Amino acid sequence: MRPGRWADRLAWSDVSTVFNPASAAESLDLDSWRGKPAAQQPDWRNEAELRAAVDELAGLPPLVFAGECDQLKARLAAVTRGEAFVLQGGDCAETFSGVTAEAVRTKIRTLLQMAVVLTYAASVPVVKIGRMAGQFAKPRSRATESRDGVELPVYRGDAVNRVEFSRQAREPDPRRLIDAYHYSAATLNLCRAFTTGGYADLQQVHAWNQDFVRGDPSGQRYEELADEIDRALSFMHACGADAEEFRTVEFYSSHEALILDYERALTRVDSRTGLPYDMSGHFLWVGERTRALGGAHVEFASRIGNPIGVKIGPTTAPGDLTALISKLNPEREPGRLTLISRMGAGRVRTALPPLIEAAKASGAPVVWICDPMHGNTFETESGHKTRRFDDVLDEVTGFFEAHRTLGAHPGGIHIEFTGDNVTECIGGSRQLAAENLTQRYETACDPRLNRSQSLDLAFMVARIYRQAR
Ligand code: PEP
Ligand code: CO
Repeated sequence: MRPGRWADRLAWSDVSTVFNPASAAESLDLDSWRGKPAAQQPDWRNEAELRAAVDELAGLPPLVFAGECDQLKARLAAVTRGEAFVLQGGDCAETFSGVTAEAVRTKIRTLLQMAVVLTYAASVPVVKIGRMAGQFAKPRSRATESRDGVELPVYRGDAVNRVEFSRQAREPDPRRLIDAYHYSAATLNLCRAFTTGGYADLQQVHAWNQDFVRGDPSGQRYEELADEIDRALSFMHACGADAEEFRTVEFYSSHEALILDYERALTRVDSRTGLPYDMSGHFLWVGERTRALGGAHVEFASRIGNPIGVKIGPTTAPGDLTALISKLNPEREPGRLTLISRMGAGRVRTALPPLIEAAKASGAPVVWICDPMHGNTFETESGHKTRRFDDVLDEVTGFFEAHRTLGAHPGGIHIEFTGDNVTECIGGSRQLAAENLTQRYETACDPRLNRSQSLDLAFMVARIYRQAR
């Protein structure tokens, strides 16, 4: 494959999909997960309301198409061969109020800037996947939260309840699943428009950077790189080259497949292949807290045709990983399974190598990507959940080292970021200090890299990638 070029485009026949005929769903056993323990499900008080919401969702159009999921699988297959790199990122938790054209645009813009840095500086095609258009439900460490002696259900994401600390707000409400569907549709519509409607044209490479704070080191560095890209583009245009790939980008959506009633309701049988796909997003992953081999989430994921991911934490035994791989990718299909390692900077160098070995020994091609966020969270004295930029970078470095030592391909990064100048993570080229966290701490769940820190990371990852080659 030539770097930076994807040869195949989708044909209409790739995106047509029929609704589930009930009989097909039955023979495909899409409900086998119901007999298994399902962790992290909300305590919906009203069964009838849940059934009504799920029935309504089952009649709504798919958000994505099976052909698009297959195309992403083909891109990820290229990653298993060491020919491409994944950039997956977005909010820890999307919120309904965060679905505005401006917020989505700034997130897409940051993702595009990071992708350009990686593509250009590391000379590798980048598969762009947003933690966007569906990341509305969160696993939590406790089922309840107490404040001043009052105990209420914990906030589980906007798809389930509201963040305000009142009994009414925290009551899980199944109607919110339908709202989550509509907010996902609106977000995806914006993502599709921004990535194919001219905004992602490489001619805009400078424009994306325009309103960066003056004097921002990563913004300045980016400006220099954009100048180089401009010169390269002028040269190619002068030669007569004007590829579609310069004007639009492929963008894919992803979220954690957590609320199984929602995911099941959006699962449809693809008319081309007769296979079921979860059409709530292109790529779905199973979280660290729900990846039990005998659990409902892994069972559900094993039945759908999408490319899927599993978060892999430091307590994963090599044998468990091998079992997960054979359950989730029995056909050893390249691009089907992505392992998202989230070890923590202190443990990545010891915990990851045996797992890379186990995956190799399984004989199934897998994509390994590094989530350097979730193993590096801590709380400051002021009570803010935060992460140090240096720990994030150290975990990515350890991830690359482990892969290079074992002759495996470090296939990408998975990060929590936002396009705004929030103050949620410490460090970066602007040296955000713990005392600054209060200035603009807005996350609905975990702390995100801001725009400047995200670009810092992209430059550093590009350098590590180049050096490790
Ligand atoms: C997350 O991605 O927000 C998350 C909860 O991660 P993990 O499952 O790895 O803890
Ligand atoms: Co998170």
